[in-house]
Amino acid sequence: MTYNRTIIITGGAGFIGSHVVRLFVNKYPDYRIINLDKLTYAGNLANLKDIEDKPNYRFVKMDICDFEAVMALMQEEKVDGVIHLAAESHVDRSIKDPFTFAQTNVMGTLSMLQAAKIYWESLPERYEGKRFYHISTDEVYGALELSHPEGIKPPYTTKASSGLHHEAYGEDFFYETTKYNPHSPYSAAKASSDHFVRAYHDTYGMPTVVTNCSNNYGPYQFPEKLIPLFINNIRHRKPLPVYGKGENVRDWLYVEDHARAIDLIFHQGKVAETYNIGGFNEWKNIDIIKVVINTVDRLLGRKEGEDMDLITYVTDRAGHDMRYAIDSTKLQKELGWEPSLQFEEGIEKTVRWYLDNQEWMDNITSGEYEKYYEDMYKNR
Ligand code: NAD
Ligand code: DAU
Repeated sequence: MTYNRTIIITGGAGFIGSHVVRLFVNKYPDYRIINLDKLTYAGNLANLKDIEDKPNYRFVKMDICDFEAVMALMQEEKVDGVIHLAAESHVDRSIKDPFTFAQTNVMGTLSMLQAAKIYWESLPERYEGKRFYHISTDEVYGALELSHPEGIKPPYTTKASSGLHHEAYGEDFFYETTKYNPHSPYSAAKASSDHFVRAYHDTYGMPTVVTNCSNNYGPYQFPEKLIPLFINNIRHRKPLPVYGKGENVRDWLYVEDHARAIDLIFHQGKVAETYNIGGFNEWKNIDIIKVVINTVDRLLGRKEGEDMDLITYVTDRAGHDMRYAIDSTKLQKELGWEPSLQFEEGIEKTVRWYLDNQEWMDNITSGEYEKYYEDMYKNR
């Protein structure tokens, strides 16, 4: 079969990457989708069980930092698009181990860029019909003030923020023009990688695009992140470690809405542009935690709220950013993207998924999934 496009998606065995791979493999049978993933602790091929036998899908276990291997893969597969998600993604880990974050997020991105540059520049058509799409985060913009701790009416609402709770906790937002001001080793490394991507456009003319998205939630998220960690702890009646006073604000988007935005921007985003992705859906951590507790309790047949006493205030995260809030007006106006899911529906769907897929969770927390992929891929 000849394919119309061949795309490498890096980090496709992770949380967001697996949703992007699934969307592209199912929606575009005429595209060849190569999932390039090193399978670190965060990579889990069980996230992709439902599509692993599709004819237009190939998994390649590879480190993005291995420039020679990436280069050879691009040539072998005649790759014409890269959607780059692979990264170390957890802020707490970056505080303990910044070197790994610099290596993967900065050097790994540089390795992907340089391999794409050399391969594409070797072709007669060079960059025509090519695209390097880098997935970044709102954290590169730094932190906003909690200037309205009680909440005010947000300037916009979307489907995501159309539920009972719809607050903004300040007048400021992150715009595409907001100056970078990262605070954690994770966000500093992501910021650096974003600069490299833009430099490859400005210096070599590579057709790049960068997006900065807010906090994602949904199925297949590694249970070190707030929502899956807390769902699992509530299920097992383990303490819920709330950093500081639980007053920090994050802007939450359902992961499939992010994946849909990535699809749209990969195909229709303008070269060299930046797009913010978010649903104007700000929540204080403590408020979201209460919603999660009530939902888990209800779905497990417990009395709603009976697990509130699991909330345990612990020492704050070092350098903990106070508030993130994305303004995604540009993406909504220019490309017509909209979140599809109201937050309350999204949380219900997410909690239900983790409770229905306890084996997935238990395999991770017991380390079983590492055996799964070792057995399955050792001879490939
Ligand atoms: P994740 O930690 O769940 O997955 C990361 C994936 O990258 C894993 O499959 C891992 O095996 C792979 N990987 C790590 N190092 C690698 C390497 N050296 N070579 C090849 N593969 C490697 O991450 P996520 O939460 O899905 O985030 C994906 C991307 O989206 C990241 O770039 C992150 O910065 C960005 N992002 C995440 C969020 C969020 O809320 N999770 C929000 C905005 C942006
Ligand atoms: O904003 C986008 C970012 O969102 C992504 O770039 C990151 O990859 C992703 O991990 C996420 O970063 P956060 O640090 O916001 O996510 P996390 O789930 O770690 O924490 C969410 C909030 O909850 C944050 O304010 C810290 C707090 N928290 C987190 C954990 C894990 C707690 O209070 N207790 C916890 O145990």
